[in-house]
Amino acid sequence: MKRLTVLGVTGSVGRRTLELVEHFPEDFRVEGMAARGSNPELVAELCRRHRPRALALSDARALSAPRPELLAGPDGLVTLAREVEADVVLSAIVGGAGLLPTMAAIQRGRNIALANKETLVMAGSLMTAAARERGVALLPVDSEHSAVFQCLEGHNRSEVRRILLTASGGPFRTMKAADLARVTVEQALNHPTWRMGAKITVDSATLMNKGLEVIEARWLFDVPPEKVQVVVHPQSVVHSLVEYVDGSVIAQLGVPDMGIPILYALTYPQRLPCPAERLDLTRVGALTFEEPDVERFPCLALARQALLEGGCAAVILNAANEVAVAAFLEGRIRFTQIPELIDRALSRVPARALDDIDTCVDVDTRTRATVREWLPGGVVAAVR
Ligand SMILES: NC(=O)c1ccc[n+]([C@@H]2O[C@H](COP(=O)([O-])OP(=O)(O)OC[C@H]3O[C@@H](n4cnc5c(N)ncnc54)[C@H](OP(=O)(O)O)[C@@H]3O)[C@@H](O)[C@H]2O)c1
Repeated sequence: MKRLTVLGVTGSVGRRTLELVEHFPEDFRVEGMAARGSNPELVAELCRRHRPRALALSDARALSAPRPELLAGPDGLVTLAREVEADVVLSAIVGGAGLLPTMAAIQRGRNIALANKETLVMAGSLMTAAARERGVALLPVDSEHSAVFQCLEGHNRSEVRRILLTASGGPFRTMKAADLARVTVEQALNHPTWRMGAKITVDSATLMNKGLEVIEARWLFDVPPEKVQVVVHPQSVVHSLVEYVDGSVIAQLGVPDMGIPILYALTYPQRLPCPAERLDLTRVGALTFEEPDVERFPCLALARQALLEGGCAAVILNAANEVAVAAFLEGRIRFTQIPELIDRALSRVPARALDDIDTCVDVDTRTRATVREWLPGGVVAAVR
């Protein structure tokens, strides 16, 4: 029986995790839950079903009783991650809000199942160093990284030639550059192969998701940036590949269902029969691969630029992206203004050395404030 704390319990990854917990009641028990608190009814329902010991809501509103011990505010999430006894903390809050609770869990020596890629983008060197120091496992939940993790198992790391992350290409893969400025929020949220939260779905449409994943892979697998490459694979069946020095390429395949990588992160090194559709290659048909187009989708190149720059550049990239995506979802900027804002933030916000988490939080806060000033009413024109 593994005891779990689920950060981001009401989200797409969090809810899929709880479905797995319900499917395997002998294997998992949820001890701690955390969310922002946007949907109190859902939180109450999840508490009724799972009866966690403690609940943390960064934005706590009235919750109908009965409910577990309530830890309110952002500090509550850190307390929950640190204090609630858990064998694995599943980190699935979206964005930089997951950074401090995830770090707190690592510092307390708790193994992490990591979906919240933004935390590793912001503080990869600090998080991996803390994990090494405490003997904490950082188990990937992102399907691509779970695939790479599985392709690396049993092999010699020094023989890896490159890691190939696959990208679906998103809903605008074949759209002309001139048309991208007019895409709607609804179109951007219509991902061709995965059903996910709004922010990551927009990130998939801009290819920033793949940029964040390149940075995530660099830290998770301790490989130099040039060894992490991206290939567009619209069917989302091959989740990623590892090429070895002898020319062998090992891939992991499966249906696009987050249940599979979530469950593997929770049961590693064992496997359980995941309640998910099975891959039938004869029904899938052709698997195709193409180069990503960084002219139409500059976010991928911006992420690589930030990774190469080092220090707090990736903190700036991530913060600018979060503000820009939120503004796009609110209808305040055009789709093509997302990379423009990020590019401007990377060139104008001073990048400092990433000395510690406080520096990371400070640069994150400053970048968000700066980019918000550039939104409609400021330098960037609003969509009319
Ligand atoms: N969805 C996928 O298939 C998938 C795949 C790979 C990786 N990921 C990664 O997993 C993470 C979660 O993605 P998602 O699609 O599950 O997101 P989502 O559906 O939007 O859910 C986000 C979760 O984070 C919580 N949250 C947001 N801001 C918070 C804050 N300030 N404090 C505390 N909790 C907060 C939300 O709580 P409320 O509901 O209360 O607002 C919700 O539980 C992201 O980093 C994403 O990149 C997702």
